[in-house]
Amino acid sequence: MTSKIWGGRFSSGPASIMEEINVSVGFDQRLAKQDLLGSRAHCSMLVARGIVSAEDGDAIQEGLTRIEKEISSGAFHFKRALEDVHMNIESRLADLIGAPAGRLHTARSRNDQVATDFRMWVRAACDTVDDEIRKLQSVLIDTAEQHAATIMPGFTHLQPAQPVTFGHHLLAYVEMFGRDRSRFVDARKRLNECPLGAGAIAGTSFPIDRALTAEKLNFDRPMANSMDAVSDRDFALDFLAAAGILAVHMSRLAEEMVNWSSPQFGFIRFTDAFSTGSSMMPQKRNPDAAELVRGKSGRIFGGLVALLTVMKGLPLTYSKDMQEDKETVFAVFDSIELCLAATTGMVVDMKPNAARMRAAADTDGLITATDLADWVTQKLNIPFREAHHITGKIVKLAEGKGVALGALSLAEMQMAEPRITEDVFKVLTPEASAASRTSFGGTAPDNVRQQAEAARKRFLTRGPTP
Ligand code: ARG
Repeated sequence: MTSKIWGGRFSSGPASIMEEINVSVGFDQRLAKQDLLGSRAHCSMLVARGIVSAEDGDAIQEGLTRIEKEISSGAFHFKRALEDVHMNIESRLADLIGAPAGRLHTARSRNDQVATDFRMWVRAACDTVDDEIRKLQSVLIDTAEQHAATIMPGFTHLQPAQPVTFGHHLLAYVEMFGRDRSRFVDARKRLNECPLGAGAIAGTSFPIDRALTAEKLNFDRPMANSMDAVSDRDFALDFLAAAGILAVHMSRLAEEMVNWSSPQFGFIRFTDAFSTGSSMMPQKRNPDAAELVRGKSGRIFGGLVALLTVMKGLPLTYSKDMQEDKETVFAVFDSIELCLAATTGMVVDMKPNAARMRAAADTDGLITATDLADWVTQKLNIPFREAHHITGKIVKLAEGKGVALGALSLAEMQMAEPRITEDVFKVLTPEASAASRTSFGGTAPDNVRQQAEAARKRFLTRGPTP
């Protein structure tokens, strides 16, 4: 029967559109490995508690092993009519071992089953992302160390502000990515409680051992409340929120790469490996990978908003709306992986141009105005606010003449403040300015070298993120 309302897409009426909206096996088959692990743990707990016989338990475990092989060899046929990955695996188990298969679902519901599978999947995703961010930090630290003394303009409001080093600039991102890792590590810690055994909503009358199941699946403990266990997806939201903030950081770095690689800046150049041409303008070298990292942040943020919206109006406990959680998280994970790999690739590929950066740090010779004000404050014991004012007059003079601060004569400087001496000229080069920033966390080349070494210890040695 073709529905008048739904048009020609469906060969029959409500039944086929019901399957169309309900089916999830197209995407939730990504949970197959976790589903098999969960079933194995549940089955051995049932045997240990005498709920299922050892014989049936063995048959189930063997059947699950065969299914695992079928899935990894690609021979397993996922059927849409069986709705989701859980029903597909259970139905195949029945094909393979017959009656004992029916005992596996004792004291279990798809509600606690899917919550367990998905937690394990997100847990593994947190570990993978943590590892991939570590690789990005590693190449950033290497490049930062090579450019510990490479002078460039530091910007505020995208206006040249003070000289910094390129290495210092890159290490700023190493810190951001370090905090990103800590968010994934933290999300992982919080999610590591086991829902299995919560049943559909209320727990079960069978004498199960939830601590045993939790332990077998490497969870820290069982979740304390069966209703919470089947109904919250905050662990997925934690993951998406951490992914969103990571995407902000990757997008900002990507934006800088787009700027830096434009001929106007010329601070870096991508090789052909990370450049694309224009179909019309032969001279173009476009930084498409950086633009796409910046652009993909949109869908990553969208994932968080999508799941927040799905969850916000749901009464306890499970509602089918929650099936929408998986595609969102899978898609965000895929985008994050791609963006991390592309960003790491671009950092390795980019060729910094130290001469262009140095020249940009000194286009008008005014970038060391703060150094002049600091000199006046420190050497003449004049309050900084007043020194700022004196420096302002000198800057105005230089600007009026169209020369650098360092190109003014001592007499001209003394028109603004008579006690200024020849000594002032030493602090007016970008190199002297950067080298003087020795305060902790500052841009002086020696600091940057030390910070690169410290970052290596903090971030690249195995173990939990600090
Ligand atoms: N495919 C479902 C999901 O992803 C599994 C749980 C279904 N539970 C139920 N009672 N219908 O949410």
